[in-house]
Amino acid sequence: MHGTNSTSFSADSALLSLSRPRLAVLDSGVGGLPYIHWIFRARPAGVYIYLADTAGFPYGSKTEESIIDMVIRRVGCLVQNFDPDIFLIACNTASVVALAALRERFSKPFVGVVPAVKPAAQQSAARRIGLIATSETVVSSYTENLISTFAADCDVVRFAGQDLVDFVENDLTRADESDRLEAVRPACDFFRNAGVDNLVLGCTHYLHLQKEFQALLGPEVRVVDSVDGVGRQVLLRLEDLGQGEQSGKVFNIYTTSPDEGSSYQDFAALYGGDYRGVLSCS
Ligand code: DGL
Repeated sequence: MHGTNSTSFSADSALLSLSRPRLAVLDSGVGGLPYIHWIFRARPAGVYIYLADTAGFPYGSKTEESIIDMVIRRVGCLVQNFDPDIFLIACNTASVVALAALRERFSKPFVGVVPAVKPAAQQSAARRIGLIATSETVVSSYTENLISTFAADCDVVRFAGQDLVDFVENDLTRADESDRLEAVRPACDFFRNAGVDNLVLGCTHYLHLQKEFQALLGPEVRVVDSVDGVGRQVLLRLEDLGQGEQSGKVFNIYTTSPDEGSSYQDFAALYGGDYRGVLSCS
C-alpha cells in the first residue's frame, strides 16, 4: 500500500516515533538512492527517509536563490513530518549552493555531497582531471574553491551534463543498455579527447550510469564518486547519535509530486526501499 494521503502519513509517523536516530536524505530525484542504499546495506537496522524533490526537479538549471529557498523548504517539511536527527543532502547542486544556509537555519547535523575533486587529484598522474556535474555545480564558487584547494596543480576540464540528469530521472527505467551508452557517449567523447585520467561524477544522478561511463572511457580513466566516503561519514555520525530507545528497520521513499510513470516503484524495488508516495511540502 502506498502512502499517498494523510492517513498513511499518520501511520508512518506512529511507526517512526518509536525509533531513533533517524536519517533523512534529500535529492531532487533519484540521485541520492545509491548513497542511502550504501548506508542501508551497511546498517540495516535504522530509520531511513528518502525525499526525492520531484516537484523541484531539476535543481541544476535553477538560480542559487531558488535552490536555497527550495531546499530550506524541503528540509523544513522533513523536520515537520519526521523530526530527523541527521540529514544527508545527497545532491551536489544543493550542497554546494545551500549547505551553509541550511546549517545556519536548522540546528541539526548536515552531511553534504560535493564533487570528489580531492581523491581524483590525488590519483591523477596526468594532472588532468574531468568534472561532469550540473550547470550550476560546474560554475559554483564552492566548486572553484574545491579546485583551488585540492587540485591547484591540475587542469580540471568541466562538462555541464544537465541533459544526462534528465535522462536518468525520466528515462532510465525504460532505457536499454544501448540507450544508456548513447546517453553517456557525448560526455565520454569529450573527456577522452581532453586526455583526462580521472573523471569526477559531480552529480549524484550519474551514479546510475557509472558502469556505462567506465565502459566507454576504458581502464585508463578512473571514474570517481563519493559514495564510500560519504557513506562512512554518515555511519560515524549515526554511531555518535546512538541507537536510541528502539532500533527500527524503515527505508521509506517519498516524492514531492505524483510519480506519473511509476519509476519510483521500480527504483524502490531496485534499492530495497518502500515507495510511500507523495509527501506534500509547500
Ligand atoms: N542530483 C543532483 C546533484 O547531485 C542534481 C540534479 C538536478 O536536479 O539538476 O547535483
